[in-house]
Amino acid sequence: MDVLTNFDLEKFVETTDEWITTRTGIKQRHRLAEGQNASDAAAEAARLALADAGMEPGEITHVINATCTPDYLCPNTACLVEAKLGIVGAMAFDFNAACSGYVYGLSMARAIVAAQPEARVLLTATEALTRRLNWADRSTCVLFGDGAGASVITADGEGALLEDVRCASDGNLGGLLTIGGGTNTPYAKGDPIGDDFFVQMNGRDVFKHAVRNMAAISQEVLERNGLTTGDVALLIPHQANLRIIEAVGDRLGIPAERVFVNLHEFGNTSAASVPLAIADARAKGVLRPGMRVLLATFGGGFTWGAALLHF
Ligand SMILES: CC(C)(COP(=O)(O)OP(=O)(O)OC[C@H]1O[C@@H](n2cnc3c(N)ncnc32)[C@H](O)[C@@H]1OP(=O)(O)O)[C@@H](O)C(=O)NCCC(=O)NCCS
Repeated sequence: MDVLTNFDLEKFVETTDEWITTRTGIKQRHRLAEGQNASDAAAEAARLALADAGMEPGEITHVINATCTPDYLCPNTACLVEAKLGIVGAMAFDFNAACSGYVYGLSMARAIVAAQPEARVLLTATEALTRRLNWADRSTCVLFGDGAGASVITADGEGALLEDVRCASDGNLGGLLTIGGGTNTPYAKGDPIGDDFFVQMNGRDVFKHAVRNMAAISQEVLERNGLTTGDVALLIPHQANLRIIEAVGDRLGIPAERVFVNLHEFGNTSAASVPLAIADARAKGVLRPGMRVLLATFGGGFTWGAALLHF
């Protein structure tokens, strides 16, 4: 991956570091190298997660991968990750919940290990968003970056405990944030690629819904566990925009020093943003054993979710 700073963007996008920093908090984003794909980043993250869990790839029974920027429509990226790790025979599939992918994945992994207690689920979340940015659309291209994260979920592991998770959606609002290139994009061979092939977004509307839904679902998850925000040591929200994160923190009454932010380094990496932030918070010593963490996400679909993890 290489790093694209706001100053790099100034050279080919009609924008400034000052605009991007004050409106979003983003200072730089990472970009996959030529020839490197979402599956490569996911495999790299998976190797780290497996080492962290003290497990071998051959022990994995399920590879479930969150992405809205898969390498191909078919084969699915989970199968590519599986092959890169040398796994054969696991159940492997992709799902798309955009930026909520990781929390959706936690919910699915929990269901899998509940039904099959011996399951060893590898959850990856990976995005190659820079491949679907329209560099002529300054209102979107400055926001996103590439990245990946991974976790291993078991019924009996020694890592963080998933205390609760809740996911929600509203498909009526899907048109406010789209990435084309699916079969609804009626291209014939040789047609020029249109704007609809890339990320398109009504930023203001997305902003409003993101704040409202991330705060509401977080509150709901806390309440149904008899907890308050006072019981949360750290909020790790989806890293889309610093102003969204601050507004969610305000609504929940969680002070900034208990909210983890790393979007200045990575931009919005969609499904990868939360697992990347968890790994980063651990590496920086911000997330420590014994802490209860609240995850909150929002993304295209619209989808949103929240989870409680006890490290
Ligand atoms: C996209 C976003 C940063 C725009 O911020 P905003 O305060 O709403 O800005 P506006 O849309 O009002 O645009 C203000 C002006 O800045 C301009 N502008 C937009 N992008 C710009 C850029 N990169 N550089 C410079 N100017 C830019 C606009 O053209 C507009 O100019 P105008 O007033 O002359 O028309 C903000 O809406 C946002 O972050 N929304 C949520 C997006 C998101 O996180 N999506 C993913 C969720 S999973």
